[in-house]
Parts: sequence; C-alpha cells; structure tokens
Amino acid sequence: MKILVTGGTGYIGSHTAVELQEKGYEVIIVDNLSNSSIEVLDNIALITGKRPLFEQFDLTDREHTAIFFQKHSDIDAIIHFAAFKAVGESVEKPLMYYRNNLVSLMNILQGMIDNRIRNIVFSSSCTVYGQPDKLPVSENSPIKKAWSPYGNTKQMSEEIIQFTADVNDIQAILLRYFNPIGAHESALIGELPIGVPNCLMPYITQTAIGIREYLRVWGDDYPTPDGTAIRDYIHVVDLAKAHVIAIERMIEQKGKEKVEVFNLGTGNGFSVMEVIQSFERSTGVKLNYQIMGRRSGDVVEVWSDTEFANRELGWKAEKTLDEMTLSAWKWEETLNQKVKSEKRKAK
Ligand code: NAD
Ligand code: WQD
Repeated sequence: MKILVTGGTGYIGSHTAVELQEKGYEVIIVDNLSNSSIEVLDNIALITGKRPLFEQFDLTDREHTAIFFQKHSDIDAIIHFAAFKAVGESVEKPLMYYRNNLVSLMNILQGMIDNRIRNIVFSSSCTVYGQPDKLPVSENSPIKKAWSPYGNTKQMSEEIIQFTADVNDIQAILLRYFNPIGAHESALIGELPIGVPNCLMPYITQTAIGIREYLRVWGDDYPTPDGTAIRDYIHVVDLAKAHVIAIERMIEQKGKEKVEVFNLGTGNGFSVMEVIQSFERSTGVKLNYQIMGRRSGDVVEVWSDTEFANRELGWKAEKTLDEMTLSAWKWEETLNQKVKSEKRKAK
C-alpha cells in the first residue's frame, strides 16, 4: 500500500511517516521544505531502516501537482498535512494562508478525481470549535466563527472536502487535533519551530536550554483552578498512530460515512502551570517564567471528548503529560547538540 504524506518532513507528518513505515506501508512524501528540513528524511531512515520516497515541490503549483499524480496514480491514500499553521502570522498575512492552505487542498482533490484515488485523511484542528459552550468538546459541537484566517482555512477545507466527496468517488477522514506536543522517543525527529516559537512546549524547552530568557505565562486570572488556561495536550506519536488507523479504516472500507470526523486528544485538560510543573518534574530542570497578561485570541479552556474516536477507531492516546514534556526536552537537547557541533565545525 502506497501512502502519499504531504508535509511529511514537517512535525506531525514525519512522526506519521515513521508509524506508517513501521506498519509496512510504502510512504511517498511531498513537501516544499518551507517549514522543514531535508535531513528529516535521513532521520526517518535511521528510525525505520527505510528512507521514504520524496519529491520537493509546492502543492499550490497546479501543473506540477497534476503531473505528480499522473506519475503516481498507484497511490492508495493520502494524508494531507501540508499547510501553514501560525495563527498570528495568518492574521498578518491572510491571503498567504488562504492561498497556501486552500489551493494546495484543491489541487490534491483534483489529482484524486483525475487519477481515481479514493482516500484522504485531512489535518484539521480543535481551533474550529473556538471556545466551546460545553466541555468536553465532541465532534458534534458547533463550529464557531473563526477568529483567525488560519482557523478559517481549516473550516473551509473541511467544507471543500465534504462537498467534493459528496459528488465524487472520494472518502475522507477529518482529524481535529488538540494540542500536539512531544517528540519521537529516539529524539531523532521532533518539532522545528522557525524563529521565536508561539506555542507553549517549544517555548518551554527553548527557555530551559537557554535560547530564551524566560517563559511568559499568558494570564493567570482565568476562571480555572490555578488561573492559567487549559488545553488538551497530546503526544505526537499517539497522534501519528491515529493516522495509521484512519488509513486502515478507509482502505478496509470500515467507515460509516463518506466523510467522518474525529477529535484527537487525550480527554484531559492541563493548565499552563501544570505543564510547567510536569516539565520540571520529568526533566529535573527548573524553568524561568513570569506571569503576564492574557494573550489576545486565547480561549480559556478546551479539551476533547474522546469517546467517539476511542470507540470507532479503537484508538486511545496512551502517553502521559510527563512523557510528553520529557520527550520534548530530549528533542531540544538533540537540537542543541547539533548547533554546538555545527559551531565547532565552523571554527
Ligand atoms: P509543519 O509546519 O511542521 O509541517 C507542515 C509541512 O508542510 C512543512 O514541512 C512545510 O514545509 C510543508 N508545506 C507547507 N505548505 C506547503 C506547500 N504549499 N507545498 C508543499 N509543502 C508544504 O506543521 P505540523 O505541526 O506538522 O502540522 C501539520 C498539519 O497539522 C497542518 O495542516 C496543521 O495546520 C495541522 N495542525 C497542526 C497542529 C499543531 O499544533 N502542530 C494542530 C492542529 C492542526
Ligand atoms: C497553549 C497555552 C497559551 C505560549 C495553537 C493554535 C491552534 C492549534 C494548536 C493548529 C495557551 C499558553 C503559550 C507561551 C503561554 N494549532 N502559552 N506562553 O493557542 O492552544 O493553540 O496550537 O491548529 O490552532 O492556536 O497553543 O501552545 O500556543 O498555547 O502561556 O509562550 O499556553 O496562552 O494557554 P493554542 P499554544
């Protein structure tokens, strides 16, 4: 079985490529390396013993994408990760986000139709729910008006897939991720934030390693037990495993509808302070932090109702918060070693 993984050198894509290869799938990655590095392929090979096939191009290039699909019409299923994902940047540059995230999706769907490829798994996000009225948030919770162009591209992408599947021989699984963190246990792949990280986990590890002076905790006056905001953090390897199950479900025709939606979270909410405490406990490293005002656009609390995904996919996130924070730290240490050895070589 041949699986196209778009964005496969990126954070979640690389972990999923590993899990797919370990289950015996043939993986072909397409990535333009706009937010990832070619070395990821070597590291996937180190973990799995096999280097995935790779083509570097921009999926917004319609002609190139069409030629790619003609060449690889034997693809059995697609996992579409490739997208821009920085919420704040999307507010600054909305058209860049709409163009990249929507045009690449449309080119892929066209390639599927033209080459009779039936199956697609799409990376969606819990951001589609905004601040839910009821917690935990189930797949049937209402989709709230997006406050960022990024979030809007996820809502629109889900709709584009639904309407396209309605009138074509296409089935889809939309996976709404909560907050993926952590890294592969080998510490050979992980998240590679370019510039100053926006997200909590890489900011914590970069602070602990000395790249950042201190973590800014955005708000401690929320209506939560310790006053800091609550999220459902999920280990990226648990997330990756759910993709393999989604692929199997489609290939084995086990789906109950043409387009299915699943939340991927642990079902547990942790506050920012709890994540900091977990980091300090699991690594033994003390973290500098300061309490600041709230960050605009942040929701107070959100965590997933996992019942549907657990039952239908037979999947459950297994890793604890301490395993997540420790693996993120080991990955940061790997990155640090790499920087040090590059500096030594440059001398
Ligand atoms: P990432 O940036 O690490 O990976 C995305 C990859 O796609 C990168 O390697 C990038 O180079 C590539 N890419 C982007 N645009 C492309 C294009 N036009 N053509 C070819 N390649 C392109 O991001 P990630 O964290 O692995 O996220 C993967 C997917 O999951 C994205 O769709 C993201 O929106 C979604 N998601 C991520 C999170 C999260 O917190 N990381 C949460 C929910 C949903
Ligand atoms: C988590 C918590 C912050 C950084 C984002 C996207 C969302 C989805 C997941 C893609 C919040 C606090 C953070 C820092 C902090 N991605 N924090 N100091 O905002 O839940 O979700 O990633 O689809 O769309 O918006 O994740 O990691 O940025 O923040 O105090 O330096 O950590 O305020 O409470 P978020 P995050």
